[in-house]
Amino acid sequence: MIANAAKNWGAQNTPELEEHDLLYFCSVIEERAGIYLKPAKHDLVRTRLRSRISARGLESFTEYCDLLKGIAKNDPEWQIFTNLLTTNKTDFFREIKHFEFLVEKILPTWLKTSEKTFKVWSAASSTGEEPYTLAMVLQRHLGKDRDFKILASDIDTEVLKTAQNAVYAVSKKSELPLEYQQSAIELGQDNARGWFRIKPQIKEKVSFKQHNLIEKSAPGQNAFDLILCRNVLIYFAQENVDFVQTKLFSTLKPGGHLFIGHSESLQGIKHQWKSVGPSIFKKVP
Ligand SMILES: C[S@@+](CC[C@H](N)C(=O)[O-])C[C@H]1O[C@@H](n2cnc3c(N)ncnc32)[C@H](O)[C@@H]1O
Repeated sequence: MIANAAKNWGAQNTPELEEHDLLYFCSVIEERAGIYLKPAKHDLVRTRLRSRISARGLESFTEYCDLLKGIAKNDPEWQIFTNLLTTNKTDFFREIKHFEFLVEKILPTWLKTSEKTFKVWSAASSTGEEPYTLAMVLQRHLGKDRDFKILASDIDTEVLKTAQNAVYAVSKKSELPLEYQQSAIELGQDNARGWFRIKPQIKEKVSFKQHNLIEKSAPGQNAFDLILCRNVLIYFAQENVDFVQTKLFSTLKPGGHLFIGHSESLQGIKHQWKSVGPSIFKKVP
């Protein structure tokens, strides 16, 4: 009874999200991050921004809207707003077929070249599971006289902190195949019980950087052997998908590969990639 009363009191005190404020939030997140929030995602805007409103001591979404309209483009509030509206779901060894393709098709060909360092960009790396999976696989399958480097980037500064920390709840351990549970991680003891960390020799292969995919700048030209841009294009409208795939094309080395998410596609877009597998593309020289 008391709990119900408390919930109702909470509900009465939840500010209403007016249509014009919702439209403003949706349009600015698309402009800044490319993220298109379809109507099914509108509840997410309400729940994610509600906590920020109380943290700022505001009483309504309209007040938060006015605050955003009044601040400079480089005000730190914009980063907090962006972090709140990204979706960061990820796993170790997610969409495992990509890692099998890497081991079975890409690496054997690359190993026949005289290149010394295999370079990868995980372009929407979230909390780090994707770049660390890459590092584990490359560590195991590249010979001793070859090296690799992974650049991991994301627009969201909070997930990048988690990624750099390289410590995960032990409930995520089962996402790793057994051989990697034994070789790539260390279980926490005492205070760190319930957590594991990525082994330092794997962690040190990954560097982190904030990067917005819909900005013109890129971390190089013809610079990477492989780019993973998975489960992020799904949030973008077609013109942003087009912009990003063109940018990734010039960032990749000729002969390099691009992995996108299994539920994503480049259909309906004019592009120069050769499709070489499910959600796998090659920049044919
Ligand atoms: C669902 S996660 C995917 C993580 C990982 N690639 C995977 O497939 O498991 C999507 C990530 O894209 C990031 N993201 C969204 N918009 C972005 C943008 N404009 N530039 C860079 N990263 C972006 C989000 O912050 C989020 O961490």
